[in-house]
Parts: sequence; structure tokens; C-alpha cells
Amino acid sequence: MIPFNKPYMTGKELWYISQAHANRHLSGDGSFTKRCHAWLEQRIGCEKALLTHSCTGALEMAAILADIKPGDEVIMPSFTFVSTANAFVLRGGVPVFVDVRPDTLNLDETKIEAAITPRTRVIVPVHYAGVACDMDAIMAIAKKHDLIVIEDAAQGIMSSYKGRPLGSIGHMAALSFHETKNIISGEGGALLANDPRFVERAEIIREKGTNRSQFFRGQVDKYTWQDIGSSYLPGELIAAFLWAQMEEADAITRRRLAIWDRYHAGFAAAEREGLLRRPIVPADCVHNAHMYYLLLPDLAKRTQFMKALKARGIDSVFHYVPLHSAPAGLRVGRASGACEVTDTSSERLVRLPLWVEMDDAMVDSVIDAAVEEARAVAAGAARPRAVATGAR
Ligand SMILES: Cc1ncc(COP(=O)(O)O)c(C=O)c1O
Repeated sequence: MIPFNKPYMTGKELWYISQAHANRHLSGDGSFTKRCHAWLEQRIGCEKALLTHSCTGALEMAAILADIKPGDEVIMPSFTFVSTANAFVLRGGVPVFVDVRPDTLNLDETKIEAAITPRTRVIVPVHYAGVACDMDAIMAIAKKHDLIVIEDAAQGIMSSYKGRPLGSIGHMAALSFHETKNIISGEGGALLANDPRFVERAEIIREKGTNRSQFFRGQVDKYTWQDIGSSYLPGELIAAFLWAQMEEADAITRRRLAIWDRYHAGFAAAEREGLLRRPIVPADCVHNAHMYYLLLPDLAKRTQFMKALKARGIDSVFHYVPLHSAPAGLRVGRASGACEVTDTSSERLVRLPLWVEMDDAMVDSVIDAAVEEARAVAAGAARPRAVATGAR
């Protein structure tokens, strides 16, 4: 069986956890957290990085920092994870869903302006599969309409756009270190602030609405309740684990890219045959090989394809179910125009196994099986017609 994901451990995680244990500093913001913050600030070039317990938590902090009030509108793709929307809905915000581009499956920048109303406050570009949104266009629209941009860079660590690391371009950004991501700590995330006006308040919101961080730096002689907030910081054991991963981030990314490139070359002929579509990475984007996906012709063929791979011992998975037509999306949000690319891509997309310890023979066996099965489903091989199960 080739699983879809197998979390990679560098070998140093338990050593660093034992150091945190020996230091007897187990709550947040100890020496490992500080090392992780410094690494993120240096590698991404953000003004301030703050570890959180998840990307979901970082997005919730960003929604508070953006001062989202009931009825404020937030433009985002429908093709994303629920947390992108929930973070704002928790503050009374209204997600306004815009379709994605057919090439990258990222927020379609040409459809954003039509979604802007006097209530619009924020745009959330989601960098799908670690491939950047057209950030120049999005930042220009935001500037023209005085909007805040919060990058959902859950999948975007070590990727860049026109030479700029993802997470460094919007006013704020959120990263994920969930075990399915490239750099992991089980659960984990980070809020990145690029606009200095958010830095001080971000520290307060993350520390239960208090100025405890200033107190620990000796800047105030006692800490008090300053603002709304919650407990968003992870403990030191998580940060110690994460530090081991950050030290190996370059090697992890290199291996993932080698697997991604092998898949991409391996599926080129099948794409020319019209059996499937491969991911498209625009020339100005350097990606991090977070994901390798294929687009099959339709839902029935994708379902049949996934079942066939499963029968051959290969785990493949679909991805986001559109938010605009989900029960909560219909209740609390609205779509701006049709979300046709979202709907069809969501039904056609299948993600293949991609994890650091996959060897070339394993990757080749996935390629061979996938091409054979894509050909079989295209030919309408004598299998029962697939029923739409799984994704919905
Ligand atoms: C685009 C996007 N945003 C946010 C999240 C939430 O991340 P976390 O699990 O760290 O809260 C995910 C999770 O996969 C995601 O794909």
C-alpha cells in the first residue's frame, strides 16, 4: 500500500523536545519558539512572525486584527479549506466567494473587483498547492479600494512569487504546520504580520488579550487585560519539534520537488493524449511541491480512477468541496457570480501520494498505475459506471 501521506521526521525532533524538557520551560514563547520566529522572519522577510497552534488560529487572529465587524465582507475563493471562511464568520463577517483561475485554481484576480461593495474589508488569496496567486494584481486592487490582504499561505512555506516569499506580500499571512504540510509539528501554524500597524496588537491578541509579551521583555512592570484575544500560542514541545523541521526545510523542499518533477515528467505523455491535465505553475512562481494533483475529465471518471488506484494499493484523495454551495456557505456567505471552475475542478481533481521518503521506484509505480487507469477510464473500460460517492 502506498499511503497518500507519511509525515517525515528529520531525526532531531525528540532530541530538541528532550532539551525543552530539560529546560523546564514547557509553556509558549521559550527559546525554541524564539528560534522558530527568527527563522520565519529571516527566511520569509516578514515584519513579525508568531507561532500559533494552527493556521486556523492564525486566520482567526488575522480576522480580529482586521477588525472584522458583523456584516463586513471578505473576498475569498470558494475552493479552499473551511477555516479560510470560518475565521471571519466567527467575527460576523460575510464570505463573498469568487471563482478560481482554471490554470492554478487560485482566486481569479480578474473577478475580484466585481465582488467589491461598500462593505468589503478584506481579500484572502489562498496559494493553492503552494503556487502563488497573482499578488501584484491583488495588491493593486486592495490599494485602490483600501482593503486589507491576508494571504492564506497554509500550503505556501518556501514558495515565492516574483522572488518574494509567500507570506511576505499581503498585510498579514497565515501558515500551517499540520502534519499534511511540508514543514510540520503535528498541529501548528504561524501568523505573519508585514504591516507594522498589526504587530503590537497581534502579540496581545495571541496572549489572551494581555500585554504579557511586553511584560516578559521588561517593557511594562505588570501585564493587564488590554484587548479581546485568546490563547493562540503553542507550547515549547511543539516549537522544539518544529525547530527540527525548520533546520531541514531546504532538504525537505528539495526532495519534494524531485518527486513532483518526476510525476510531472511521467504524466506529460498522458496529458498530450488528452487523458488528464497536469498542474500549471506560472513562470513567475517558484513552488514548494506541496502537492501533485491531476485533473480527470469528470466526476464519474475521477471516482472510477480513485477506486482503481485503491484496488492497486495506491491511496489518492480528492480535495476541497466548494464552500459557496456547502450548507454553512449558503447560510452565512454568498457567491459573486458563478463558480464554474471551482465546481468542475473540485469534481475532477485527485491528489497523488507525495511524501519525502517516497523513493523513485514508488513514484514510478504510481505514475504507471495512474496512466493505465486514466487510459482505462477514458476508454470506458468494462467497469460499472462510477457513482458520485466520497466527495459529497
Ligand atoms: C488553505 C488552507 N487554509 C487553512 C487551513 C487550516 O490549517 P490548520 O489545519 O493548520 O488549521 C488549511 C488546512 O489544510 C488549508 O488548506
